[in-house]
Amino acid sequence: MKKTVRRYRVALTYPLPRRVIDDVVKPWADVTLVRTRAELIRALPRMDGVLTLLTDRVDEPLLQRAARLRAVGNVAVGYDNIDLNACQRRGIAVLNTPDVLTRATAELTLALLFATARRISEGNALCRSGRWRGWDPGQLIGQQLQGRRAVILGRGRIGRETAKLLRALGIRAEFITRTDRPSAIANKLNRAQILSIHAPLTPKTRHWLNAYRLGLLPPDAIVLNTSRGPLIDEAALAAALARKQIFAAGLDVYEHEPRINPRLRKLPNVVLLPHIGSATAQTREAMARLAAQGVINVLRGKRAKNRVV
Ligand code: DGY
Repeated sequence: MKKTVRRYRVALTYPLPRRVIDDVVKPWADVTLVRTRAELIRALPRMDGVLTLLTDRVDEPLLQRAARLRAVGNVAVGYDNIDLNACQRRGIAVLNTPDVLTRATAELTLALLFATARRISEGNALCRSGRWRGWDPGQLIGQQLQGRRAVILGRGRIGRETAKLLRALGIRAEFITRTDRPSAIANKLNRAQILSIHAPLTPKTRHWLNAYRLGLLPPDAIVLNTSRGPLIDEAALAAALARKQIFAAGLDVYEHEPRINPRLRKLPNVVLLPHIGSATAQTREAMARLAAQGVINVLRGKRAKNRVV
């Protein structure tokens, strides 16, 4: 007798690359695209799996509708948008996208470092304004990077990759981890000419970089954040930049995305990017593939290496 293969149902909250859906999801599941939270809530009772973005909140009210849900594949390495405990209580697996975005995010961190140290945005704005009056030895003086001392918050994959790239530029890089003693953290911040943040957002890391810690940085410090915005107290950072207590900041993420603190938007010594750390064609496809494969593996009762819970 011919064995019938059970087809699953998987919702996508974003149209992920067609190739990925065709290769990975469609052989096993029927796919429904939901464009809003309301649509997801309506569709969820019928779904076995869902592929979400970091902008989707997977919380208790949503999960109450998840009568048959077995896997949430978040197309991001961070999963602070997901209530892990609520998923675990219901036996729902959560998958993320580690490794595949490590290099892209570290490279974007370096792009922000060059842009802030050499005042690239200000130079670009000057050229476009039509107000450039010619070469001037005192114009847009930045900082040479070779020989500088960098401190990286977080010793995870992206932090380590960033350290590797910084060292290749002749920058001395050391780590701060969340278990370091306060005196060790203070000593490292005192000499951090570059502070790059690469830690997940948790209740313990919210506002990790606050007014007190900003005050420990030297005046030539550059702050970089390509992880999650709420790790920095944005009001305190804007105040430090406005009074030139530190040299500059390069930010890809914000405390209340997509809203950006209006003070930050006006300051010349901050470079602002719209959360594009992993935005390369190769990386985005690899992220979608990894999350989708994880969901299908869980539904098929197979091991998924990117399973968080
Ligand atoms: C992530 O994956 O967590 C990034 O913030 C988006 O690429």
